[in-house]
Amino acid sequence: MSRGNINSILKEDRLFSPPTPFSEQSRIKSRADLNALTTDAKENNEVFWAKLAREKLDWQTPFTTILNTEHAPHFKWFEEGTLNISFNCIDRHLKNKADKTAIIFEGEKGDMRHISYQALHDDVCRLANGLKSLGIIAGDRIVIYMPMTPEAVIAMQACARIGAIHSVVFGGFSATSLRDRIEDAGATLLITADGGFRGGKIVELKAAADQALAAGCPSIKQTIVLKRTAHDIHWNTDKDIWWHDITANQSTECEPTWVSSEHPLFLLYTSGSTGKPKGIQHSSAGYLLNALTTVEWVFDIKDDDIFWCTADVGWITGHTYVAYGPLATGSTIVIYEGAPTVPDGGRFWSLCERHGVTIFYTAPTAIRALMKFGDDIPLSYNLEKLRLLGTVGEPINPEAWMWYHRIIGKEQCPIVDTWWQTETGAHMIAPVPGAIPTKPGSCTLALPGIEAAIVDEKGNEILEADVGGYLVIKKPWPSMLRTIWGDDQRYIDTYWAKFEGRYYLSGDSARRDKAGYFWIMGRIDDVLNVSGHRLGTMEVESALVAHERVAEAAVVGKPDEIKGEGIFAFVVLLGDRPEGGVNEALTQELRQWVSEQIGPIAKPDQIRYTDNLPKTRSGKIMRRLLRSIAKGEAITQDTSTLEDEDILKQLSGQA
Ligand code: PRX
Repeated sequence: MSRGNINSILKEDRLFSPPTPFSEQSRIKSRADLNALTTDAKENNEVFWAKLAREKLDWQTPFTTILNTEHAPHFKWFEEGTLNISFNCIDRHLKNKADKTAIIFEGEKGDMRHISYQALHDDVCRLANGLKSLGIIAGDRIVIYMPMTPEAVIAMQACARIGAIHSVVFGGFSATSLRDRIEDAGATLLITADGGFRGGKIVELKAAADQALAAGCPSIKQTIVLKRTAHDIHWNTDKDIWWHDITANQSTECEPTWVSSEHPLFLLYTSGSTGKPKGIQHSSAGYLLNALTTVEWVFDIKDDDIFWCTADVGWITGHTYVAYGPLATGSTIVIYEGAPTVPDGGRFWSLCERHGVTIFYTAPTAIRALMKFGDDIPLSYNLEKLRLLGTVGEPINPEAWMWYHRIIGKEQCPIVDTWWQTETGAHMIAPVPGAIPTKPGSCTLALPGIEAAIVDEKGNEILEADVGGYLVIKKPWPSMLRTIWGDDQRYIDTYWAKFEGRYYLSGDSARRDKAGYFWIMGRIDDVLNVSGHRLGTMEVESALVAHERVAEAAVVGKPDEIKGEGIFAFVVLLGDRPEGGVNEALTQELRQWVSEQIGPIAKPDQIRYTDNLPKTRSGKIMRRLLRSIAKGEAITQDTSTLEDEDILKQLSGQA
């Protein structure tokens, strides 16, 4: 646990008030308006959510219970209610907005499509009928492993339409990661593509899917394959069906399957502090309610906005702020398939200009990477339509914040720094942009209805300014995770046990400043945040020790200018340590190996060979020591328990 010592952030006290033109036109215009909402939410928490649920969602059967706490921490929201998520995201807009563009798509190679709400409805229904024709029913699990094309959203929406539970696996994950997730979910169907275009190359999704299925996944009966790249792929006539064949003769009408509020909408695997990713299970009604309300409160979305969230649907951000939230409000979204640097570092800004993007939401790591290309590139595009900017996934350093503010936002766009997690389903701590002045690096205040606090080891609330502690949420909220798929005990142990069920434990540490603003300080568990994506140190360690030459491995994070955190691995080999600690060929092989086991994001940036790992008497790896070494800091920890001082030299790379 660290105690408020992120120096660059501590010194940051600049305050940026909402620009007047923005506030005047925003949904929530002033601090007083927001306070009224927050006070109402605090005093009448359940009634507050119930009112929103009635107002914002279309129900087939109205709910009668707001919140059932009988089996806490298994909370149930809006019981007895039935609805359909795809109906709420699409059908209900058809009366007034059938021709409105739902999705503006641009492929990496420059191909473009505009898909209206009517066309989206028709495509979703065709696929939903196709799924039904394969015997898929409500509750079945479908794994989606696709490029970032509209069909990824169509697949998610088609599952939702028939009550099937989707589990999207990020296209950058390896065959092994895909297999693990399919097997854990017991999925019966896989939806993939022949490939996708990214970084000037074809991402071989079908090849990885074939590899996953050849190695296991007995539950998968069929694979639907979207033709995206049209390059040669292996075809398995027993199991593979083309997307265009399964949808070809299907009706464009598919009666939504009405499911209960608590029906699982999706599973999404995320890293925890063990080697095994956890399948975070989300509900239907509660999830969509927070997805929708945060799009209104935090993104201040209006009917004529063009909203672009750059996240891939393989992450929670791509679920809540691409596939569900903005569609539930009947908005127009942008989807871009490729990398931000193809053909050059101006691609994002070029997309913003050409599609008239008004709200832009991305990760600090992308901002830092694009900032490196200099100011001239963004300055050569017309970004005048932008009115709001957002960030997510990791703390943003003030330098990147200021660049975003000045060069991209021209000092006219509020920046919403949104803190949330796969588990929370939607924004939890974030500025309401017309009402809350922002500070570079702070996610500001909890949203209405969300009671966030910082507590000490015993669970006592820390009210003192600038003292760090555990970031917790004190009350249940509609879009909270419901459990971990197939491992309910882990759900209880991870999120509720530490404070005996009193609070939801986020796993982050944070502090509040004198104004009550939250500053996220980082994870308190063994989870890394690489480019805004979570990775368990144990996951990378398990991948390393699975290599035939590795005996032991310890992985820690190291600050990285672009990625936020980089991966530093200390490795003990079977047999002798390489001469002078250097074996470049093996290092490359191990990096490649981890990439194949998990995915390229898990590739260690640095590997250091050592004869031993530093351990405590009870055999625990001294990670804090390794973290200091990885950062190149002076060692202040007690190292008297080390058997052999020479290890320190090896660990520090000096022998
Ligand atoms: O450590 C926090 C960091 O990302 C973690 C959640 O990761 P994930 O579930 O992959 O979801 C990322 C997208 C919501 C958090 O526990 N994090 C997320 N947003 C922020 C953040 N850290 C600082 N500031 C943020 N705005």
